[in-house]
Amino acid sequence: MSSTNEETAKLIIDGKEYALPIRIGTEGNRAIDVSKLYAMTGHITLDDGFANTGPTMSMICYVDGENGVLRYRGYRVEELAERCDFTETAYLLIYGELPTGDQLEEFRTNIRVHTLLHEGMKRIFAGFPPQAHPMAILSAVVGALAIYDKDSADPVDPVQSELAIYRMLAKMPTITAFCYKQSIGQPFIYPQNKLTYCQNFLHMMFAVPSEQYRMPVDFVNALNVLLILHAEHGQNCSTSAVQMVGSSNVNLFSSISAGICALWGALHGGANEACIKMLEDIAADGRDLGKYVDRAKDPDDPFRLMGFGHRVYKNYDPRATIVKEICHRLVDKYAADDPLFELAQELEEVALSDPYFVERKLYPNVDFYSGIIYRIMGIPNNMFTALFALGRLPGWVAHWREMHLAPGKRIHRPRQLYTGHSEREFVPLIKR
Ligand code: CMC
Repeated sequence: MSSTNEETAKLIIDGKEYALPIRIGTEGNRAIDVSKLYAMTGHITLDDGFANTGPTMSMICYVDGENGVLRYRGYRVEELAERCDFTETAYLLIYGELPTGDQLEEFRTNIRVHTLLHEGMKRIFAGFPPQAHPMAILSAVVGALAIYDKDSADPVDPVQSELAIYRMLAKMPTITAFCYKQSIGQPFIYPQNKLTYCQNFLHMMFAVPSEQYRMPVDFVNALNVLLILHAEHGQNCSTSAVQMVGSSNVNLFSSISAGICALWGALHGGANEACIKMLEDIAADGRDLGKYVDRAKDPDDPFRLMGFGHRVYKNYDPRATIVKEICHRLVDKYAADDPLFELAQELEEVALSDPYFVERKLYPNVDFYSGIIYRIMGIPNNMFTALFALGRLPGWVAHWREMHLAPGKRIHRPRQLYTGHSEREFVPLIKR
């Protein structure tokens, strides 16, 4: 759904004029198409951090960062969070339309029949030391699916691709929950396919063979909303990683494994874990909010307010508004004595009335309050980012699929401006 409108941007290099097509999307940014720039001019573009680069056209997600708008396939995320189930949202993201009742049931069945892992995979979990971070285990085990599910490893075969998508969606909750069970030394709890996606995940996380887990419906609903809110966000670091790796025509599992690694970083999905750690540190340090805000503003201090700021949002992150509302409800009902929610709200107030944050348009992002909900649900801090991964999975899959279906798909291969030495003479070891 893009057009060129015959508009062009003029570029003059050494007095010679070049016309570059302007691409116009449905809404939002217009793009100067530089894909032929090198062939035309011998120049490349330089764009630190890809802040102005669109590596692709996509129909999956629209983010208007100035106005705090997020839509999946045209639907407002607020509406999806209120009215949809996570698997319904996954279908929408991957296939482009909300499913009919029959399509949704078929989709859920196709997922359900793949929830088990190969028994041999349990030995992979056992090989990790007890303190291993769940994100390291998650990326390794997801990558290993390529060995166990070889008959769905060809990304250019449509039948194998579909099978890989079902397997990936089905096994991710199982693998995520097994990471947790491994870390606390409890036996793995197998999936129960009569449960919904979110119920099943909580069951595998918290049931033990000797006792059934009675999950509060509020937790199931909160998880459903959190997963929907995390499901997709355009060309973020991890989605770009999935596409970059997948563009080589490696299998889906390896591509998703790369996305999990990218998500782990504290500047991306790891911010939810880092944010709770920051709040705990502030609480333990006498709740001196001014001190931490001053540190965040100090250019010589690497400390930043975790869960604050966003490359795209220059307004309140619409996801953070919903997460904060859920926090209010759950804290009132289950954790009135948890001091961190109050502390987080105070920190938000202090930051949002400080000119540093106001001028830079730094607002709470989706990670600022999500950890407080996970804590109430009994999910330990080091699992927060794994839950982000579980939520983001449909978005990764949707972009991976869209890329493979796009006509003229090419391997992603950026260039660079070389600033090192010119050719120099080799110095033998003995003379160095
Ligand atoms: N605390 C203090 N200062 C900040 C923060 C922050 N959290 N975020 C940005 N700034 C400052 C930054 O120092 C810079 O100041 P100056 O103009 O004086 O150099 C200015 O704001 C612009 O920031 P930037 O680093 O150019 O922004 P970016 O787009 O490169 O980084 C970010 C975006 C999300 C990595 C950054 O805001 C950050 O580190 N936030 C904390 C980590 C975090 O919460 N990440 C989760 C993002 S949302 C979930 C996801 O999708 O990953």
